Amino acid sequence: MSTHSIIIFASGRGSNAQAIIDYFKKNNEAKVSLIVSNKADAGVLSIAKEEGIPSLVINKETFSTDEFCDQLKEHNPSLIILAGFLWKVPANVIAAFPEKIINIHPALLPKYGGKGMYGHHVHNAVLHASETTSGITIHYVNEIYDAGSKILQAHCPVKADDDADSLAGRIHKLEHYFFPRTIAYLLQNIHSN
Ligand code: GAR
Repeated sequence: MSTHSIIIFASGRGSNAQAIIDYFKKNNEAKVSLIVSNKADAGVLSIAKEEGIPSLVINKETFSTDEFCDQLKEHNPSLIILAGFLWKVPANVIAAFPEKIINIHPALLPKYGGKGMYGHHVHNAVLHASETTSGITIHYVNEIYDAGSKILQAHCPVKADDDADSLAGRIHKLEHYFFPRTIAYLLQNIHSN
């Protein structure tokens, strides 16, 4: 079986990107071949440098060009993974990689999703609504924010004394465990060559 190429898009710290890189260092079924970010100072770009993974910084103009799509295609990705990526993916990129783009959201969609709902905005909304359960959703990406078909959800408690930081910490643990394993599952069973 050949090694799958996967591409990660991320805007922030990149702890999910790191978890995915570390997981596939051990199991060899996939290799992160490119990291794309919309922020030149994103932590995930330091991770790319440290790990020797090529990276690309995009802006709003370059994101929807055919040249960008071609750059992605050069890596022949089995999956494109949005790991804390905050921009909407343009229609031409979605059309070029049908059923190959997946996202992780730090709540139980369809609740607490949509434009502007990322990171602590999500956790604050969950706390404000006095939810006793939150979790993660891994789903396919379509042209509507956080609305593609779901692949996996995992739950965790929201505790009475939680603030956004403590809830984010619990959610990150779920993400770091389930995201790499869900990717591995998809590569083995759905997107196998
Ligand atoms: C993650 O919790 C991810 O679920 C969230 O951003 C965080 C990125 O953390 N994504 C969204 O909110 C998307 N709407 P990381 O940079 O440490 O991986």
